[in-house]
Amino acid sequence: MKKIRVGVLMGGASNEREISLASGKMVAEHLPKDRYEVVLLDPLALMVGNAKLSSAMRDKAKALIAKGGIIEALPERDKALPASFQKEMTTAAATVLPATDAVAATGGDARIDVAFPVLHGTYGEDGTLQGMLDLIGIRYVGSGTLASALAMDKLMTKTVLEASGLPIARDLLVERRDFVAAPEDTAGRVGAQILPAVVKPVRSGSSIGMTIVHTRAEMGPALEEAFRYDDRALVEERLSGTELTVGVIGNRELTALPVIEIVTKREFFDYQAKYDPALTEEICPARVSDAIAREVQDLAMRAHRALGCRGLSRTDFIYGADGAVILEVNTMPGMTVNSLLPKAARVAGIPFGELLDRLVQLALEDE
Ligand SMILES: Nc1ncnc2c1ncn2[C@@H]1O[C@H](COP(=O)(O)OP(=O)(O)O)[C@@H](O)[C@H]1O
Ligand SMILES: [Mg+2]
Repeated sequence: MKKIRVGVLMGGASNEREISLASGKMVAEHLPKDRYEVVLLDPLALMVGNAKLSSAMRDKAKALIAKGGIIEALPERDKALPASFQKEMTTAAATVLPATDAVAATGGDARIDVAFPVLHGTYGEDGTLQGMLDLIGIRYVGSGTLASALAMDKLMTKTVLEASGLPIARDLLVERRDFVAAPEDTAGRVGAQILPAVVKPVRSGSSIGMTIVHTRAEMGPALEEAFRYDDRALVEERLSGTELTVGVIGNRELTALPVIEIVTKREFFDYQAKYDPALTEEICPARVSDAIAREVQDLAMRAHRALGCRGLSRTDFIYGADGAVILEVNTMPGMTVNSLLPKAARVAGIPFGELLDRLVQLALEDE
């Protein structure tokens, strides 16, 4: 039987590029070799003429096209992560090919049968890449353009979830231009309404640009930090309770994976806490009653349906005194062997390779 040619799309241009490279490499290694022929592709090559990218990112795109994968220096924020993970991220960058012929309509033999976008953040998890693949006619793992775009935007996600009767946290939106026009007034007004608060860019991931705000004085700097990554910042009430996350797999018929409980030594599940196993315990199944587990699994499946997700999703929660509150929905959650969704799948008796196989099969399923 002819093997199915899978293009693992990894890297990309978002600020989660390095995480994506590490995830993509592991996905490629674990896709069952007897059924799939795997190519590692970096869509950054397609973005070489995109003026919205930083010049450093465009230089990377040029180098990728000229030489193939290159060893890349890691951004500052990765320097405190475990050495083994840093190595994983740097070496992964050297293994990729530019995703040009493999996705182009004229790509000939190089063209892939199905894409597995192991990409997080902008130009990967936000519907843009999905739209391009739709246009070219290449099937892909995970959600389509609409669900991806909605889930990338935390405000739109909350709007849709609320309209579907699902529980979300109280918030205020702050636009950069209002803040720039009157920083102190804006920060003061917001701080007077919501405190303690969590300030986050509307479109980001991996907790990048996020701050917990305890006092009014901390509001201005927190907004400034969020505006480094987006024109809009979401100021949410800070919820207390148990942090839970639930993976869902399926297209029409959904399966909720066992609930994971997140217990971190850090103040919250920040960038460090997410990628340094010494800082966070991920307990699966979560230490909650069966009733609570079923409740959040049901909410995760409802959130997946409300946004129109496909293939997989992972919904983050805080379970407090007033019950479950949804923080966000991820359409392409972390995919290293140790990431949350693969971990929950393993507890459900689905090893990593089998999970990946299922996800590709879901992508090829006619709807
Ligand atoms: N409203 C909130 N109250 C308490 N903690 C929060 C809140 N929002 C986010 N957090 C913390 O920040 C982390 C990241 O927030 P999240 O909304 O999931 O964004 P990201 O896309 O960066 O994962 C969460 O896992 C949680 O630890
Ligand atoms: Mg999250």
